Amino acid sequence: MIQRFILLALALAFAATAEAADSASNAPGAVPGSDPGKGQKIAAEVCAACHNPDGNSAIAQNPKLAGQHAAYLYKQLRNFHTADGKTPERVNAIMNGMVAGLSDQDMKNVAAFYSSQTLKPEQAKSKDFELAQKLYRGGDATRGLPACAGCHGATGAGIPDEYPRIGGQFAEYSEAQLKAFRNGERSNDPNRMMRLVAARLSDAEIKALADYLAGVR
Ligand code: HEC
Ligand code: HEC
Repeated sequence: MIQRFILLALALAFAATAEAADSASNAPGAVPGSDPGKGQKIAAEVCAACHNPDGNSAIAQNPKLAGQHAAYLYKQLRNFHTADGKTPERVNAIMNGMVAGLSDQDMKNVAAFYSSQTLKPEQAKSKDFELAQKLYRGGDATRGLPACAGCHGATGAGIPDEYPRIGGQFAEYSEAQLKAFRNGERSNDPNRMMRLVAARLSDAEIKALADYLAGVR
């Protein structure tokens, strides 16, 4: 009886996955009620100039969005957005302007679209990645630094919904974000998670980690 129930549940789950292939709404990290088809239109019209039509940006200052968890992308878009002239939760002059004209539904849709695209990952430049790998995998207990892998996964794929994919990203972008978390310029991380981590990193460690992230799989 129990076995039949499990089989039935599995079959239903499969059916749900097949149906969701179009809407991507049931995938891990997906945003319920999103329409990636409509998102593709926004991406082509508004975002492609900097993030490319498929989210594999060509310029290191513009982060890759392809394959990122939709829930994370949606959260960032909401954080860039501001109402009533208040300071947005994530401050960036370019992106604050870009989301100004988007509705909440637009943000869900474009997040779902970019999330559904396949990441073309960067490569690490340095072959000397031992220090970065040690910090990434194990942190450093002597100074209360947690392992990056604990939140972002062993391969950098992240853990939906909260923890973004960081593997394969441009090193320049990751370095800039780690420094922004460290000096508090970026402060949209729940419970100060990334600010507490970045506060314990030196410039050299940030550089090494950012390069490592570009290559981690
Ligand atoms: C003129 C260039 C430009 C355009 C057009 C643009 N972006 Fe961006 N985007 C950027 C830059 C630069 C950043 C990095 C901001 C920072 O350093 O914090 C960024 C960051 C982001 C992030 C954060 C990613 C992360 O990993 O945290 C998201 C999400 C995003 N953009 C989505 C969009 C969407 C959706 C559109 C279209 C509606 C768009 N962008 C249009 C330049 C652009
Ligand atoms: C306790 C959990 C936690 C740990 C440990 C952690 N992170 Fe994060 N990290 C997060 C969260 C949560 C975010 C997204 C914050 C937000 O919502 O904007 C993030 C965001 C980032 C980003 C920005 C991603 C983007 O697309 O903008 C980078 C880069 C990053 N982390 C690198 C690291 C590195 C390197 C380490 C290890 C030194 C690390 N993280 C350790 C939770 C963690």
